[in-house]
Amino acid sequence: MSDRNGMKGGENFDLRDMLDQGKQLAFDQRIRYFSGWINGLMDRGEALYLREVLSAASREVEVYDRYAGKPRKMLMFGSNNYLGLTEHPYVIEQVRQAVEEYGAGVGGPPLLNGYTTLHREVEERLSAFKRKEETVIFQSGYGANVGILSCLLSENDLILYDAFSHASVHDGLRMSRAAAAKFAHNDTDMLEELLVAAADSPGDTFVCVEGVYSMDGDTAPLDEMMGLCRKYGAYLVLDDAHGTGVMGATGRGTPQLYGLEEEIDIVMGTFSKSFGVVGAAVSTSKPIADYLRFFARPYMFSSSIPPAVLAAVLAGIDVLENEPERHQRLRDNIDYTVERLRPLGFDVHPISGVIPLPVPRSMKIRDAAFTFHKQGIFINSIEYPAVPVDQQRFRISLMATHTREDIDRLVSCVEQVWEEHAGEKDQLRARESPKAA
Ligand SMILES: Cc1ncc(COP(=O)(O)O)c(C=O)c1O
Repeated sequence: MSDRNGMKGGENFDLRDMLDQGKQLAFDQRIRYFSGWINGLMDRGEALYLREVLSAASREVEVYDRYAGKPRKMLMFGSNNYLGLTEHPYVIEQVRQAVEEYGAGVGGPPLLNGYTTLHREVEERLSAFKRKEETVIFQSGYGANVGILSCLLSENDLILYDAFSHASVHDGLRMSRAAAAKFAHNDTDMLEELLVAAADSPGDTFVCVEGVYSMDGDTAPLDEMMGLCRKYGAYLVLDDAHGTGVMGATGRGTPQLYGLEEEIDIVMGTFSKSFGVVGAAVSTSKPIADYLRFFARPYMFSSSIPPAVLAAVLAGIDVLENEPERHQRLRDNIDYTVERLRPLGFDVHPISGVIPLPVPRSMKIRDAAFTFHKQGIFINSIEYPAVPVDQQRFRISLMATHTREDIDRLVSCVEQVWEEHAGEKDQLRARESPKAA
């Protein structure tokens, strides 16, 4: 699946594109065809979706193994629970207390009955945490991106976005009245060309990028991009889903890493990664926040997230502030994993909690994924059409709670997988390590 400019990547795939190739199927045929196809793959262990986790999301999880017909323990390297907060005793206790005090849910959207003291407290804490004037809590990161892009821009405006942007950005653009143009991933020259071309257009220009790209684990060159935005009078919108809690000296996110917390105009951070729950926050100026509350349809027309979730976020901010060693452990685990993988020839860098392992053309990724599974390593395989065929990869997600032994087990399983599934010229011992060379 490729887009208009032939650029691919990111997390913006639509399985229908693949399903529809060369076929003109009516609804009933289409759903039956898909159902047979996906269930066949899952039954044969060729697609490891919907693995049923029987325990708390943790560094080690209990999973019902449908192929072995019984539960088993697996090391979790597929969760974005980067700080391991879902099992933190303080977080669990705060959640318990919030349920007792506020009940299970709110039963309505924020503008009507769904705005509690906890919603206000999370907004205030996150505004301080993100160094912004005001914060609006959305029901998901997906909804936040759709809300920002569909409501803030008018028909005269233009949005310039990175080709690897998340599906929520693409979907927000479909709902937006503004024109949109894409630049190649992290290509600041191309971005500048588009900004120059936009200089004479009547409306405002917005540049939309991610702090950490979820498929590649790399970061946007925010310093250069901020400079370009200032030079050409554009607004910078940052999706820091995978940066919040991970990037920056104390985990305040990618803007902290670049020293740009106050400069970036709109920063979205999800609760679904480092905070381990669901929901999202958009931190920005008060006028933009006011506008979002009354015009962003995913915010207005969807029920508020429940108190338990907000209590988990508040507790998570407390932990980040009071236990800096947890963030440091995550950073150490990232460094250690990179240190173990580089001598094997993987050109990986200690940037974020996401470490991609490119899968060579000689390796059948589904067979290799099943070997990880059989060895008790839970890892996500990113296959075509999520990425182009020659860019398939395994995606390691690290947590602060992983031990050195966990990472050693992961690395020896990587060695085993390559030995069993990579062609001769792609064997790890035959590859030249960029560091060891
Ligand atoms: C970069 C990025 N933005 C947005 C989202 C959506 O976040 P949420 O899961 O909170 O809806 C994700 C989640 O995968 C993501 O990776």
